Amino acid sequence: MPNGRRATAFQASTGAPIDGPVDARAALGHSMLDDDFLRDPYPTYRVLRDAAPLAWSDEFFGGAWLVSRHADVELVLRDARFSAQRTGGWVMRPSDEVRTDHREGRSELKGFQRLFARAMIFLDAPDHTRVRQAMSAAFRPADLQRLAPRIEQAVARRLAAVDSAVPFDFVSALARPLPAQVIGLLMGLDEAEGDAPADLVAWSDELADFIGAPAPSRAQALSAQTALLAMARHFDVVLARRRAALAGGAESRDDVIDRLLQAEREGQIRGSAELLAQCVMLLFAGHETTRHLLANGLRTLLLHTDQWRLLQRNRALLPGAVRELLRHDSPVQYTGRRVASDMLLHGQVLRRGDLVVALIGAANRDPARHERPDELDITRRPGPPLAFGQGPHVCIGAALTLMEAQAVFAQVLERWPDLALSAPESPHWTGNALYRGLTKLSVQRGELPANDQTAAPTLTPTPSARPPDAACKP
Ligand code: HEM
Repeated sequence: MPNGRRATAFQASTGAPIDGPVDARAALGHSMLDDDFLRDPYPTYRVLRDAAPLAWSDEFFGGAWLVSRHADVELVLRDARFSAQRTGGWVMRPSDEVRTDHREGRSELKGFQRLFARAMIFLDAPDHTRVRQAMSAAFRPADLQRLAPRIEQAVARRLAAVDSAVPFDFVSALARPLPAQVIGLLMGLDEAEGDAPADLVAWSDELADFIGAPAPSRAQALSAQTALLAMARHFDVVLARRRAALAGGAESRDDVIDRLLQAEREGQIRGSAELLAQCVMLLFAGHETTRHLLANGLRTLLLHTDQWRLLQRNRALLPGAVRELLRHDSPVQYTGRRVASDMLLHGQVLRRGDLVVALIGAANRDPARHERPDELDITRRPGPPLAFGQGPHVCIGAALTLMEAQAVFAQVLERWPDLALSAPESPHWTGNALYRGLTKLSVQRGELPANDQTAAPTLTPTPSARPPDAACKP
């Protein structure tokens, strides 16, 4: 319970609170973050939404408020009373082990905190506005247009390399490597110059293990710090080379990195540490999320063969289908904020500094927002996906993600209309509570189970990798 606000009592028989904050564990009747939750969090979310829409949980970062209803998640993401500056206690005090010696924990993780806290996802206005403007200017709609054929080619090459007549792992064949390659292309990382080594993906995974752990261990924190600093050193070299080239009169390559360097020169990005933090965050955010959309999305479609067949018949449904996959099983299950000033929510006082976990995955299945929320229905029009967040920090890579996912699913549908999960289906979840995804997805060509009502496939042309809507807007 938050300091000084322990609930006066819980009813012994039901665990229902008599007074004070509702404890998530009491509402659920068991601890929240167990294996069942990591496999399928949606039953837990349902209980929270119904019985404890504002719950206190000591399983997240030593203590945090959980909000699970759509309206509350939107409020937390949009309202300036919730600050994005949340790395403080989270990075400095990640685990019981570190908490036993707080000062030691602080100095051990200083490097991490110094760099990480500068990424725009952890900034509030006016710093956030300043950096976001520079980043938005660097992400140009024309870049996405230019990137589209290269994404198509990259997908085609990876799919062509697969023997689909036998079971193969879709994660290692495509879902894991492709998003890192694409974000590298967008940023302007030059493979020939060694700008995009395989280590970047491995470092990014170390970071995800830490960021996605509600109660990270000291070992996780330290490996994440090692990975983050390695990534920063790598980008430092890339940026130094680019600066030197520009200073030597080379023409700007007109890519994201050069534009961010320009923003640094013009003072919109303040100093090399701030620039490094944005580069690291871009690579991480662009890779750890999209990979899960691709693999979770394919698995979901193959589990819903009626929807898969519907897409075969009508490829124009693809953009809506990707949005529905994002709603149905969001790759980012939650995000956090800190209360900026004391406030009331659901009749409960939230104190300045309290951590709030906005459960995006739960909000996406809120029946108050979506009819038949647990059902996958690729024809629904759910509005802008909450999976990309909302408000000032709404995902800057949403348009890229939608374009990339459409390119992948379109080509998979085209190439392998009879793709199926390799039986028996036993998903290999990463066990990461935040980044919900698979380590492996075994699929192969074969007869689809006959639980669908379909006619002949492919009536409408495939929407190819076109940037959806207006450039970088979700
Ligand atoms: C399935 C794919 C993706 C999902 C589900 C996703 C989800 C999200 C969410 C929920 C947020 C808001 C976090 C918050 O408010 O705390 C966010 C922000 C962000 N995302 Fe994504 N994202 C995806 C892909 C990408 C890609 C491809 C990029 C890079 C090109 C990217 C870069 C960012 C950045 C930089 C932010 C921070 C924006 C800010 O603070 O203003 N994301 N994303």
